[in-house]
Amino acid sequence: MGGGMARHTENAAQQRQMHINLFIFGCGHHRAAWRHPRSAVERVGDIAYLEELAQIAESGKLDAIFFADGHSADNPADGPRWFFEPLTAMAAISRATERIGLISTVSSTFFTPFHAARMMASLDHISRGRMGWNVVTSMFDAEARNHGFETMPDHDWRYARAEEFIDAALRLWDSWGDGALKIDRQGVYADPALVRPILHKGRHFRVDGPLTVPRPPQGHPVLFQAGASEQGRDLAARRAEAIYAVAYDLPAAQEYYRDVKRRVRAAGRGDPVPIMPGLVTYVGSTQAEARAKQRELDELLPPQDALRQLGLYVGRDCMGWELDAPVPALPPLEQFTGPKGRYATVLRIVETEKPTLRQLLGRLAAGGGHCTMVGTPESIADEMERWFLNEGADGFNLMPPALPGSIQDFVDHVVPVLQRRGLFRKDYQASTLRGHLGLARP
Ligand SMILES: Cc1cc2nc3c(=O)[nH]c(=O)nc-3n(C[C@H](O)[C@H](O)[C@H](O)COP(=O)(O)O)c2cc1C
Repeated sequence: MGGGMARHTENAAQQRQMHINLFIFGCGHHRAAWRHPRSAVERVGDIAYLEELAQIAESGKLDAIFFADGHSADNPADGPRWFFEPLTAMAAISRATERIGLISTVSSTFFTPFHAARMMASLDHISRGRMGWNVVTSMFDAEARNHGFETMPDHDWRYARAEEFIDAALRLWDSWGDGALKIDRQGVYADPALVRPILHKGRHFRVDGPLTVPRPPQGHPVLFQAGASEQGRDLAARRAEAIYAVAYDLPAAQEYYRDVKRRVRAAGRGDPVPIMPGLVTYVGSTQAEARAKQRELDELLPPQDALRQLGLYVGRDCMGWELDAPVPALPPLEQFTGPKGRYATVLRIVETEKPTLRQLLGRLAAGGGHCTMVGTPESIADEMERWFLNEGADGFNLMPPALPGSIQDFVDHVVPVLQRRGLFRKDYQASTLRGHLGLARP
């Protein structure tokens, strides 16, 4: 008996483990979450609120918290989006947590490599090795117009700049050798032979270096990326150390996972490069209770706004459609001339879930094309395990529909099930984000 138990525990210790991040966004990823009478909407500009969310995630032993970022303040009536600049918030959160990783988005289109490398190196020191960088090329003209552009520069230009940006940032982090700090009161503070310029001169940047900040504790903060296009997937495969993805269901996740892992191998890399699709969860002690949580949020959506938005997605006027009836028939994807990605998501939800119009609006309002799991802790753990064991995911980027409620539910009820199954750590084994993700220090 005892021997059997020990073997079981040993196996569990060696088993491949999931990586789980908490993607923090406003009052939650459901667009109407802030309207709930008990939402934390008054606190989105209170740093203690963000610290508490990070502490909840840390109590569940999650790998990291994650902030997305945008550079324009559109649709302010629709609810909170950006409040704090994320790196600034991370500095505070790092002091309110001990082990959890801290991943922030930084745009390679709007920053310069020196500025970005300097801030992230500082944060890696402040957090003692817990920083991650989600490198994005940004999306919207309104953002570009805050940074000296008339419109968003085209995709090829942005990706070429991203590549050069990453290259320069990595070299800046390496510009101080690991042993450079001597702190010898009778001699030198730092060894000048180990603090060297990088003398980068490219199409987009000139950066002499060295950086003003000694080498980050992790060597380099961990590089995340979420490319979907050809260039995006290639950049991710060549450069990213972990990858965010959008996958509606397991087949979609597998297509992405297999394609990107193939590209990683083709790039000659032996790194694990965990892939983490977004995941929206509604957890209840019964399926009905979980559904009720979802319905409660869906009912807070102002229908006129949601219908107007759906109209843009499906290219027709939906304003007169019946909210609590099945969604009217939509033409096949081939006949649709607008943006196909979003239309395909709508068609997929309608085909597989047969929702009422109100349910469809709710699905689109919480995570859009990302996977949604509604159910008991066991059923959600089953589904996560199915993705994890079948080349769909190495972990998940949790997008709780309402904060803090949905992440508390996940940590209290789903995490223990994953832990019991040996799929998720019971405690941190490392003190850096690299350590949590099983990545080597460069
Ligand atoms: C989880 C996740 C978070 C993202 N966060 C941001 C973000 O904060 N800012 C941004 O401009 N783009 C963000 N993106 C968009 C991606 O960086 C990328 O542009 C998108 O997946 C489209 O791929 P492409 O750039 O290869 O066309 C995010 C994507 C995902 C899946």
